[in-house]
Amino acid sequence: METIKPETQEMNEEEKPPSSNPRPARRWRVAVIANVKGDILLTEGAPDDAGAEFDKPETIQSIQKAIESDGHQTVFLPADSRLPFALREYNPDICFNIAEGLGGDGREAQVPALLEMMRIPYTASRVVANAVSLDKTLTKRLWREAGLPTAPFQEFITGDEALNLDMHFPLFVKPAREGTGMGMDAGSIVRDEEALRRRVRQTAQLYRQPTLVETYLPGREFTVAVMGRSDAAGWSRNPQWYQSDGFHRFPLLEVLSQESVTPGVYGHAAKKLNFGEVGIPDFACPARLSAKFAAHLSDLAIQGHLAIGALDISRVDMRLDHEDHPCLIEINTLPGLTPDFSDLCVIVKAQGISYRDLILEILYLGAARFGLMAFLPDMMSERWPVMPSLTPHIHKPLLR
Ligand SMILES: Nc1ncnc2c1ncn2[C@@H]1O[C@H](COP(=O)(O)OP(=O)(O)OP(=O)(O)O)[C@@H](O)[C@H]1O
Ligand SMILES: [Mg+2]
Repeated sequence: METIKPETQEMNEEEKPPSSNPRPARRWRVAVIANVKGDILLTEGAPDDAGAEFDKPETIQSIQKAIESDGHQTVFLPADSRLPFALREYNPDICFNIAEGLGGDGREAQVPALLEMMRIPYTASRVVANAVSLDKTLTKRLWREAGLPTAPFQEFITGDEALNLDMHFPLFVKPAREGTGMGMDAGSIVRDEEALRRRVRQTAQLYRQPTLVETYLPGREFTVAVMGRSDAAGWSRNPQWYQSDGFHRFPLLEVLSQESVTPGVYGHAAKKLNFGEVGIPDFACPARLSAKFAAHLSDLAIQGHLAIGALDISRVDMRLDHEDHPCLIEINTLPGLTPDFSDLCVIVKAQGISYRDLILEILYLGAARFGLMAFLPDMMSERWPVMPSLTPHIHKPLLR
């Protein structure tokens, strides 16, 4: 019997599909950029929890160690006004950004904006998404516009504004642009107008920013890690992690804060406690949920991530309302990366993924967007080949 030979056509190098193993074409100089606890003088009158989001030196060292373990050089650069000069001097190929920024309405976007201006590649979300995610009111407006479930809300400046008709007690009061549970404890739940106005005035005075008031969500609380983007599998060291939409599904983390130091609220006092300390909430990972409901919550988190234009990694907090319908609370585009402590790290560990793999995944997904990853011929088994005659196929940067 005659066999039909498939039609073959010689492809030139440029047209060949890339090998399935993209990697850096050479060692990079990686700057880890962060704000470190204790390094920064806080302004007079700052709230007690000011600077709570800043990182510990050990977290930065862990990130450096993970990046160096894959052959790169690293340096830590503090995210303060000396940063532009430090960047000029070090001249990094890419920055691993975890900087919270120093004040202002878009402080988490300060470092990305500087890096864009200096044309230096960096990891994770870009300027606008980092500015939006810090602003919980703006985030909720975008989610509402995208048809995603989020509790009814109203922003206050003074506390004297008329209450909107769709705001029904109990309500929940928080500073609109903080993180790490700052300004939140059981007193954030207000049951009448007098308590509401008192709490809003207090919050506005202490945090000097708008106050977000939303319907209190009495149900179970979950935090959902989001990792990936539509083309993630093409760049990943672990393409098998990603589903067809380009996102990885992590197990969900349930926060059980009823018995915690801030009962019913995953507030600042609870967030700063270490595992084993009195008053820390209980956590369940994976959360006890049907596979179908967990998949629904993961999809909501991914949609919330996409709706604000987040990239590569984030953590979305959500809670169930009085009818057990999930509502998105807020998104963290720079989720904490303290090993064995930050929610994202706990989730990643629960899935059996190492801290090193998490950090390298964030680094390489970011690098790919700036054209720093190369498809090297498979014969080049050495990770850092000294073969300048072989030009790697560099993918065109996919800047978004
Ligand atoms: N509308 C709400 N109803 C009930 N509880 C809420 C509501 N909003 C926030 N909370 C509680 O307060 C906690 C902190 O709120 P939120 O996630 O907005 O703050 P955050 O400081 O940005 O947190 P993170 O540390 O994740 O950045 C939530 O984890 C939840 O326990
Ligand atoms: Mg939160």
